[in-house]
This record gives sequence, structure tokens and C-alpha cells, in this order.
Amino acid sequence: MNETVRIKNTGLRGIPVADTKISFIDGEQGILIYRGFRIEELAEKSSFAETAYLLLNGDLPDKKRLEEFIRRITAERAVPDFIYECLAKMPEQTSPMDVLQATVPLLAASDPELAEETRDANVRKAIRLIARIPVIVAAWHRIRNGLAPLQPDENLSHAGNFLWLLTGKKPDPETVRDLDVCLILHADHTFNASTFACREVVSTKAHMYAGVAAGVGALSGPLHGGANARVMKMLMEIEAEKDIPAWVKRQLESGKKIMGIGHAVYKTTDPRAKILKEMSRRLGGKFGESKWYDLSIQVEEAALHEFEKNGKTTLKPNVDFYSASVYHMMGIPGDLMTPLFAIARIAGWCAHIIEEKFAEAQEKPALYRPESEYVGNYCGKLGCVYEPVNERKSAND
Ligand SMILES: CC(C)(COP(=O)(O)OP(=O)(O)OC[C@H]1O[C@@H](n2cnc3c(N)ncnc32)[C@H](O)[C@@H]1OP(=O)(O)O)[C@@H](O)C(=O)NCCC(=O)NCCS
Repeated sequence: MNETVRIKNTGLRGIPVADTKISFIDGEQGILIYRGFRIEELAEKSSFAETAYLLLNGDLPDKKRLEEFIRRITAERAVPDFIYECLAKMPEQTSPMDVLQATVPLLAASDPELAEETRDANVRKAIRLIARIPVIVAAWHRIRNGLAPLQPDENLSHAGNFLWLLTGKKPDPETVRDLDVCLILHADHTFNASTFACREVVSTKAHMYAGVAAGVGALSGPLHGGANARVMKMLMEIEAEKDIPAWVKRQLESGKKIMGIGHAVYKTTDPRAKILKEMSRRLGGKFGESKWYDLSIQVEEAALHEFEKNGKTTLKPNVDFYSASVYHMMGIPGDLMTPLFAIARIAGWCAHIIEEKFAEAQEKPALYRPESEYVGNYCGKLGCVYEPVNERKSAND
């Protein structure tokens, strides 16, 4: 008898939909690789700029190429004035992810090469997006707080410039390095929901900005990039809680999820979470705020204990669990944690968009067009009888 493989209504879990040369995950062993390099190696030795180059171009740059790449990102930070004017008109309560999603098409409108569909032109668009997204996120934060946006500082690195634009203070080099590592860790992650959204959109031959706007929308959801902000909200809510295991138990018994735990692919601890956990511990000591790390540990232990009792032994912390406390201690407001994810993931999104557009891992480009099975109202092939609205029975009859 043929074995039936259930693929419908499973969110495409475990179904390969494309080949990619960009990143690889071993969910059983907790391995993440970008273009052949282990994430641990990149987090220890690389920079976000170099990692972005690697993702976009396929190999590590030599010194000259890296310097040129950084120079180009730094030179592309200027955001057109009309975008600041649009930001200034947005209602101040607009979520930073909605602002970002609304602003990406405005960046398209100001790109002089929008219609040029060569690989090189798309890399240049990617550089503009990588350079400008942090500027927009920081500008919106200042505008909504009644402050004037700051001008980028060409002497600061990518991470350092973002912290400067946000706070107006020159950041300390250790925090800049820690944030840079966070950006490396979030830069790519195979066919996650937002990357798939980007690829699906550009498979229609839409431009890179259309793909990225879709990616930002997908990332905003609590089951994807929105989880880090919710982890921080949870930590703040339970700060005064005396009995964390009892709180976790109540939470799970009432059918709620513990944010930052579980993953669609990892069935063991996310390798990025291990690095962020150690960073959270270290920053807790540095800033005298170890309560967030301590609380996170208690939630993790209690949740894993409860999951084990129910046989759910594969649920472990993901990238969002410890990045929440890390970002909080760096002074990043809760609702900027997901935009910060976008600031990093833009590198991976653009690399995937280019791979999709130019069929770099397949024979030729292909439009995504899955099938669905119709399970709705059906009156036969001639269709249902259409009654004009005035002759239709009222719902209350
Ligand atoms: C990420 C996530 C959507 C992965 O989902 P998935 O692989 O499809 O796994 P499922 O949602 O099917 O979960 C399998 C089971 O574990 C439970 N589960 C998964 N994550 C859980 C969590 N964080 N807290 C409580 N229960 C969880 C599910 O309720 C489900 O239980 P059931 O079989 O009794 O219905 C899920 O783990 C989640 O919602 N986590 C919290 C949000 C989060 O941190 N997202 C960021 C991901 S990087």
C-alpha cells in the first residue's frame, strides 16, 4: 500500500520548495550555516558588514573589497527628505513595523535604478536598503517622541551608527560589537516565513522593494519576528512574580504559549540562542541588571520542565528568547526589537531575492504558484443560481 504523505494545511513544514545556496539549518543538531560558514564562527570573528557581503556575494571578501563594501553602505545612508516628511505626518502611535513596511515602497520611489534588473543593480539596491532601514527605524523613534531625527555619522559602524541615531549618544565600543554580533545572528535563516514572502513576491518579477515590504509584513507577526518584543513584555509582567514555575504552569494550562520557545525547524536549542544567552548573562553583570537574565533562566527551566512532562521534549529557546533581554539592556525599546530584527534580516532577504530573481540555485526562474483544494460551497460545474439582491431572502426570514 502506498504511504500517504500529508502536506496540506501543515504550513509547508518539512516540504522543500526550492534549492538555495545561501544558508543551511540542521534542526536536529542545532546547526546554522551561512554560505558554508558556521554561525558560531561568524559571530566570533566576522562583522555584520562582512556577513552581509558574504550573503549577497557568496564568498568572503578580501580586505579591499570589504572596505569598499563598507564605504558604499556608509555612503548610502542618506534618506530622501520627502521620506522624513511622510514620517512626520504619520500618527505617533503607528507601530514601528507598520512604519517600516509603509516606508520601503517610498525607498523604491527614490531609487534611481529601480527598473534596472541586473544582478549588480540589485546588489546596489540591497546596499541602499541595508544602509537606510536602520536610519528610518531610528528616525521614526525620534519623530514619535517629538525629537528631530539625527544625521548618520560616517565615522561610526553600521551598529554604532544605529545606536547613535536612536539615542544621540556616542555608543561604547563593547555595546557596538555586541549589537553587531546580534545583527550577524539574525542576518539569515533559510526559508523562514518572511524570506519565503520576499522570494514569492519577486518570483512574479516584482522589484526588490516589493519583496522586502512583504518580508517586513511577515516578520511583524508574533510567531515570527514579533516574538522578541513579546518575550520582553512577558519578562516585565512577571518581574514581581514570586513563583515563576507556578506562573509558567498557569500560562500553559490556560492554553497560552511561552514566547521565544519552540521552533518550526530546530528540535533542539537554536544555536543563536546559546550565543545570546551568554551575552545576556554577561550584559546583566556589566549593566547591573542581571534580573532579566535570571528571570529568563527561570522561565526557560520551568517551561522545559512542563513541556517534558507532556512529552514535548523538542521545545527549546529560540533566537528571540534571550535577544529580548540583550536588546533591553542595550537600551532598545520593546517595539523596536522586531525592527532591529529587520535591520539584520534585510541582508538575508536581499540575498534570497537576488538568488530567486536570477535563478542562482535552480535551472531557470519559476513563479511560485501552489495548488489548493477547494472545500467550499459547490453547486456543480454550472455554478450556483445567482439571485439578484432584491429577490434574495433576508437572513432573518
Ligand atoms: C515557533 C512556533 C510557531 C513553531 O511552531 P511549530 O513547529 O509549528 O510547532 P507547533 O506550533 O505545531 O507546536 C507543537 C506543539 O507544541 C506547542 N508549543 C509550541 N511552542 C510552544 C510554546 N512556545 N509555548 C507553549 N507551547 C508551545 C504547541 O501548542 C503544540 O502543541 P499541541 O501539539 O498540543 O497542539 C511555536 O513554537 C511558537 O509559537 N513559539 C512561540 C513563538 C515564537 O517564539 N516565535 C519565534 C520563532 S523563531
